[in-house]
Amino acid sequence: MSHPVAEEAPAAHGDALNLLRAEIAAALDPAEAAQRAVEVLHDRFPHYDWLGIYWVDGADLVLGPWVGPEATEHTRIPIGTGICGAAAASGQTEIIADVDADPRYLACFASTKSEIVVPIFADGSVVGEIDIDGSDANAFDETDGRFLEEVAALLAPLRPRA
Ligand code: SME
Repeated sequence: MSHPVAEEAPAAHGDALNLLRAEIAAALDPAEAAQRAVEVLHDRFPHYDWLGIYWVDGADLVLGPWVGPEATEHTRIPIGTGICGAAAASGQTEIIADVDADPRYLACFASTKSEIVVPIFADGSVVGEIDIDGSDANAFDETDGRFLEEVAALLAPLRPRA
């Protein structure tokens, strides 16, 4: 029997998933766990230049933990706006090879050339997303997408709850 996805996933992804599980389990609360998760991903993958988690809050996405060279002004994004809002509206992973060629793109950093946004699901709904900006064009591929979808499943229980 073959397991093509597992065989194609780089060992670095398996290692990172194990580390994420350990860091999340060791954290004292969900907010700390989510902060540790973004730090692990940023440390382990040099092409993840800026990485943040947005959580759904009503009709908006609100920035949670992030790590990167500078803060973004887009701390609240209406669902449906930008690449982030498109991924939240559709529930589909967005891989953008060239942000300047995508009319939906909401610019945050002059250095960003490409972007990946991966929805976080809970109970069948989008409850947040992972947003990563890359300084190189075409920085992200389907392998990142599949990996980050597994990461998203680990993050779902960390969402803020009323
Ligand atoms: N570029 C995103 C906005 C978020 S910043 O990249 C952090 C977008 O188009 O939705």
